[in-house]
Amino acid sequence: MIKDFVPKIKIELDKINSENELMNLKSKYLGKKGELTEFTNSLKSLTIEEKKVQGPLINTIKKEIESLLLNKSKEIKRLLIDKKLSDEKIDISLPSRGNRRGTIHPISKVLIDITKIFSEFGFEVFDGPEIESDYYNFESLNIPTDHPARDMQDTFYLGNNNLLRTHTSPMQIRIMETNKPPLKIISPGKVYRCDSDVTHTPMFNQIEGLLVDRDVSFAHLKGILNEFIYRFFGSQIKTRFRPSYFPFTEPSAELDIEWINKSGEKSWMEVLGCGMVNPKVFESVKYDSNEFTGLAFGMGIERLAMIKYGITDIRYFYQNDLKFLNQF
Ligand code: PHE
Repeated sequence: MIKDFVPKIKIELDKINSENELMNLKSKYLGKKGELTEFTNSLKSLTIEEKKVQGPLINTIKKEIESLLLNKSKEIKRLLIDKKLSDEKIDISLPSRGNRRGTIHPISKVLIDITKIFSEFGFEVFDGPEIESDYYNFESLNIPTDHPARDMQDTFYLGNNNLLRTHTSPMQIRIMETNKPPLKIISPGKVYRCDSDVTHTPMFNQIEGLLVDRDVSFAHLKGILNEFIYRFFGSQIKTRFRPSYFPFTEPSAELDIEWINKSGEKSWMEVLGCGMVNPKVFESVKYDSNEFTGLAFGMGIERLAMIKYGITDIRYFYQNDLKFLNQF
């Protein structure tokens, strides 16, 4: 009997819980060789009168079956979504992983710290070119042609009398050329030397300092640099000025600080070069050395950072290793 199809299918539908099984069921009844299709085909042999009765009945049954299948399909889809939602449930009470924050590079940090200290002393900050001429890097600074600093081994020459500056001292000349005394400036920046080992890299950073005025003396130089060291390293630090030589300062000195090394021994550590501006340098910029005197100093940023933070290899600064950088 045609009416038996509906309860039969209902029973089978109850056992089904996947779209695949549903497809199979559909073809079992409504497919080309499906039971209902075959039943319909069997009606061909009926008389017209019989067909008039059976035809609409079959259509209603078919529609009923189709809507049963459609409902089941919707139910399966809904269950699938429910399952997905419960499987992918997010526990919003779990602690978050947090954002990884970048840190300031130790070199930038030391540069900022030093600049801040000298700004507090009233020094202005100037920037200058890394490509320099032989004149600014050497000649104007009283560095004679046969001076070892001019050696190809130390300097990156670019041809055409140009080179990568080997120190920030050319900024002394550039600033004095364009400004009248009194002057109180620092100039940080990159410098270049053909050198590479645990304490040297071909590029490193320096800060130049220059003060020109009437009656500037070596006492001012000592006072400023001692105060700088106390503020940068701490006021317990002992300093010593050791006579040295730079062609552009006279007299010249190097500043050492007393340091306790890893094995607990006290030792002196050189931290910067300094001196009174050599009158020959004033000649280059047409300053009258009878009227003005000046003090100058230059320090390596990497070196100061290494001492302050106990870093033993300068190359750590440029390897971008997060394990190193995140410590700052
Ligand atoms: N320019 C020197 C150097 O690179 C440092 C220095 C600067 C020394 C100014 C004296 C005065 O070593």
